[in-house]
Amino acid sequence: MKSLLVTGGAGFIGSCFVRRLLVSSPEKHNVINLDALTYAGNLENLKLAENNQRYIFIKGDICDRSLLEKIFSKYEIDGVINFAAESHVDRSIENPEEFIRTNIMGTQALLDAAKKYWKLNSSDKYCAQYRDGVKFIQVSTDEVYGELGPSGLFSESTPLSPNSPYSASKASADLLALAYHNTFGLPINVTRCSNNYGPYQFPEKLIPLMINNCLNDKPLPVYGNGLQVRDWLHVEDHCEAILAVLEKGNNGEIYNIGGNCERTNIEVVKAILKILKKPESLISYVKDRPGHDKRYAINNAKIKNNLGWAPKHTFETGIDETIDWYLKNEEWLNRVVNGKYTDYYERMYGEKNE
Ligand code: NAD
Ligand code: TYD
Repeated sequence: MKSLLVTGGAGFIGSCFVRRLLVSSPEKHNVINLDALTYAGNLENLKLAENNQRYIFIKGDICDRSLLEKIFSKYEIDGVINFAAESHVDRSIENPEEFIRTNIMGTQALLDAAKKYWKLNSSDKYCAQYRDGVKFIQVSTDEVYGELGPSGLFSESTPLSPNSPYSASKASADLLALAYHNTFGLPINVTRCSNNYGPYQFPEKLIPLMINNCLNDKPLPVYGNGLQVRDWLHVEDHCEAILAVLEKGNNGEIYNIGGNCERTNIEVVKAILKILKKPESLISYVKDRPGHDKRYAINNAKIKNNLGWAPKHTFETGIDETIDWYLKNEEWLNRVVNGKYTDYYERMYGEKNE
């Protein structure tokens, strides 16, 4: 049994990973979920986990070094999967500061805690020997590579060229994680995934925002000409890929994760309209995002060939199922939109937290 520290486990992808660990492979892991519950953290994503004996939730900040020290020693952490981040490009354009703090400084605090608690000889500052079986996974994004022209794919050796404050902060964190491997021998992997979609995604991102607006017959704001391309992957496929890296990844390696599923934004928006039987007149072309990356697309050969991972969802079935989920979970969506989801922590954990 391993004790995994999942950071940002109340967010979209982190909560999917926690549910996967507890529900589908319960025999293998204890899960300690450390999440600051920013606007993006929603414990209603984790109702399934609440009463699980192998699950602990801690409300806290990954930048809080003394809290990290307590968590590592109390729970004898063997693995860190760092999902915690500010994750929305538009917010990073409005206010980059929190992105630097959480995404870069928070990652460094976690790396320091792991290095301290996992090394075998605590009195040797430069000791590069760590406990067997420990692993730090830095969950990153294809956006660190910048934008592609009309052809070509991002491979793991594509030079970093981030364009937004969000992607620049993620690229910095990746470099820190790799530096802790190269300098201190820390067993790390960096994963770089393309755009995710699926249940429980905060409706500020393209797909849930468009679904929510469709359901309310509100205009669908398409940035610029809508011809920007993203490579979509179902969130469950992303989580399976991270598990494969956790179990089989070679220390120090980067793994790109993507579903070979390129779509223009306008294609995605029209697909949602069609499934929900809403008119295309809802589409509203609006001012483009500054520094908008035109195209992302992942070459996933390395993770497929070396770790045997492959996506299970196609975009067509995945988007159908996702829309179905939002229809069946309108209450979840409404509570996010009206802000009531933030009450949940106090109701469930107000007295119980550390
Ligand atoms: P999200 O915004 O839904 O969730 C982020 C979570 O981190 C939230 O629960 C939030 O409360 C928590 N958090 C934020 N700051 C924190 C802090 N200082 N300390 C502790 N917790 C904090 O994000 P997501 O879409 O689930 O993305 C998760 C990770 O995956 C991010 O690192 C992101 O860069 C990466 N990623 C996302 C996508 C995507 O399409 N969403 C694609 C590739 C990679
Ligand atoms: P987003 O979901 O914010 O992810 P990212 O910027 O990290 O790729 O946006 C996906 C694409 O959709 C991106 O090209 C911007 C575009 N977009 C819109 O056209 N309208 C919107 O309202 C949003 C949120 C995004």
